[in-house]
Amino acid sequence: AEPPAPPGPLSGLMVAVSAGGTREPLDPVRFLGNRSSGKQGVALAAASAAAGAEVVLVSANVDTAVLSALPAGVRVEEVETTQELQAAMSGCQSDADVIIMAAAVADYRPAAAADHKMKKTGGALGLDLVENPDVLAGLVADREAGRARSAQTLVGFAAETGSPEKPAAVYAQEKLLRKGCDLLVFNDVSGDRAFGADSNEVTVYRPAQGRAEVVASAAGTKRQVSEEVIAAIAAVRNR
Ligand code: CTP
Ligand code: CA
Repeated sequence: AEPPAPPGPLSGLMVAVSAGGTREPLDPVRFLGNRSSGKQGVALAAASAAAGAEVVLVSANVDTAVLSALPAGVRVEEVETTQELQAAMSGCQSDADVIIMAAAVADYRPAAAADHKMKKTGGALGLDLVENPDVLAGLVADREAGRARSAQTLVGFAAETGSPEKPAAVYAQEKLLRKGCDLLVFNDVSGDRAFGADSNEVTVYRPAQGRAEVVASAAGTKRQVSEEVIAAIAAVRNR
């Protein structure tokens, strides 16, 4: 038998990670989606397991090749749409000590998916979209309402593009305060950075006296970035 692994920063904790991007069906063959590969979420799940946690990965349309980087023992739950993701995350909430929302979530879905493949009719096509639930905000609200582990740590992600008038980091700082999560992992995706890549560069914020305070910055492979994010999670939990 293998010797037991030494205790890690997340030993004994249950961690749920969402990864990938949700897809919203338009008809039986088409969907609205996004460019998230799921690599950062999978790296977070793998690093959480290495840090001693029991891990559930809620996988939104992540390629099998990307999922193959997961160590044995990580449970995978597959979802397609934002509403399915919400149900899966909500199912994790009573048991999870840490929930990391790394998935890129479709903010809107077609008001109705067509039963049959849509045919082109010539000319422009308008789509009726309705807003999806905000899964992370819902987790924060449910924790507030006592429907979660009291010491649950909720971690959001924000991939932002900025402009000279308003830098990407400012959008992320505002998002942290608006969402009410405990940590927000920000990456600047101006100019096509991060999507599908094997490396990443992030800043981790936490709320402090109504402002966003930097608790960590990390650059490197998505695995190295994950280890820094996990260290930041362990640090805020032990404060
Ligand atoms: N998120 C979520 N549910 C949604 C949209 C986003 O849970 N419907 C989560 C993401 O997984 C991420 C965080 O919220 O952890 C921030 O996502 P983002 O898309 O940046 O934020 P939004 O609130 O959707 O704001 P916007 O897209 O307008 O910038
Ligand atoms: Ca969004």
